[in-house]
Amino acid sequence: MCAQVAAIRFIERLSEQVANEFAAQQQYIANAVYFDGHTLPRLAGFFYAQAVEERNHAMMMVRYLLDSAAPVVIPGVEAPETEFADIVAPVALSLEQERRVSDQIAALAAVARDENDYLSEQFVQWFLKEQIEEVSTMSSLLSVVERSSETPMFIEDYLAREGAGDRGADPTAPPVAGGTL
Ligand code: FEO
Repeated sequence: MCAQVAAIRFIERLSEQVANEFAAQQQYIANAVYFDGHTLPRLAGFFYAQAVEERNHAMMMVRYLLDSAAPVVIPGVEAPETEFADIVAPVALSLEQERRVSDQIAALAAVARDENDYLSEQFVQWFLKEQIEEVSTMSSLLSVVERSSETPMFIEDYLAREGAGDRGADPTAPPVAGGTL
């Protein structure tokens, strides 16, 4: 571990973001379980995988805090939404969540720049790029789900065919505390 000093304001905001990422993980697990319960295995699989990604995002941030010799407190998170009116609702909620996270990451980048904390600014760049992809993937999925909400097997076929969300390993990703799941 190489000790480095990140700006205090950045560390505070990043610690809050760890909670947001774990909350995103919980929401995606809740979505996956909802779809699993409705025998829609591809939609369930998509959200189970997204949940792991969010967990890894949180643990990348934890790794950065550890490497910065900053205090690390693993937070509790708010309970996720578990009841949905229809199969569109969890996906619409997810797009909203991804857009919110994009704003949070942009705010983090702004703090790093404001503090002349160049290492933290560089660290956060990967997350900015990641959010563009995640918002785009979720937005496409929402279009498909809205279009085929009466015939969910079309959505399952789409996911089987396109492998939406499956982007493989990214060698440019920051290291994950404890390793990638
Ligand atoms: Fe880690 Fe998609 O927010």
